[in-house]
Amino acid sequence: MTDLHNRVALVTGGAQSIGAAIADGLAAAGATVIVGDLNPSPDHESMTLDVSNEDAVASVIAAIVAGHGSLDIVVNNAGIMFEESVADHDRTTWDRMLAINLTGPMLVTKHASSHLAASGHGAIVNVGSIEGDRCNPHHAAYAATKSGVHGLTRATAIDLGPMGIRCNAIAPGWIDTPLNASYVDSHPDRDLVIDELAKLHPIGRVGAPSDVADVVVWLAGDESRFVTGQVMTIDGGRTVRPPLPGILS
Ligand SMILES: NC(=O)c1ccc[n+]([C@@H]2O[C@H](COP(=O)([O-])OP(=O)(O)OC[C@H]3O[C@@H](n4cnc5c(N)ncnc54)[C@H](O)[C@@H]3O)[C@@H](O)[C@H]2O)c1
Repeated sequence: MTDLHNRVALVTGGAQSIGAAIADGLAAAGATVIVGDLNPSPDHESMTLDVSNEDAVASVIAAIVAGHGSLDIVVNNAGIMFEESVADHDRTTWDRMLAINLTGPMLVTKHASSHLAASGHGAIVNVGSIEGDRCNPHHAAYAATKSGVHGLTRATAIDLGPMGIRCNAIAPGWIDTPLNASYVDSHPDRDLVIDELAKLHPIGRVGAPSDVADVVVWLAGDESRFVTGQVMTIDGGRTVRPPLPGILS
């Protein structure tokens, strides 16, 4: 099992759902976990953080290092999603999506880099998406940010590798959280939607936050020491099966 004792980890957006499961997983492996979120975590030390605000990012990272002596692991998980056709994009909503989903991870990486370099075990895990390489309707902004996160991951691995810092991303598929609840709730029969979604997955179900967290813990620890610049898909096999026409499948 991954041993993260004596490692200090920042999990952005860790107050609920995938981020909360990641915070739980890192803590179970022995790490000291600090959640940076707009909202407090019910289970972990929390610092109020809007990842799109550079001053807030700088002061939260400084406070973590002042309080705990180091910063060894960063998980850039905070993210938002909304639906808007590219034809209707409002500059304000587009900018907000970019600021939180893409500029946020860059700012956290920038301000954490010197501390991660000093760690000797520095590891960054960015939360991308299968939509970084594909796209659902009306997800132009979301897909653009997640493609950006995948690119930022490769660039970070290259720029910070010589400082002893690894950087990888995960690309989750459908994970049952409030982020995608509006899809499910748009149909009157939630159970039917979950059943139909499950059929898209060779593994036979949609994902749970803990399915994602277990991979993040591995990427954060020394067992993945020769892995960097990678985007790891966690989707129950959904994207390896191209769709057949409905009358044949
Ligand atoms: N749920 C899925 O199916 C899925 C799939 C692929 C990728 N993802 C990605 O996983 C990550 C987490 O998604 P989730 O489903 O757990 O979402 P969620 O909405 O349940 O949780 C997001 C968390 O991020 C926090 N947050 C939002 N804006 C923030 C900001 N500006 N600064 C700091 N914290 C902020 C929220 O307060 C919340 O705690 C996101 O990056 C999302 O894009 C989710």
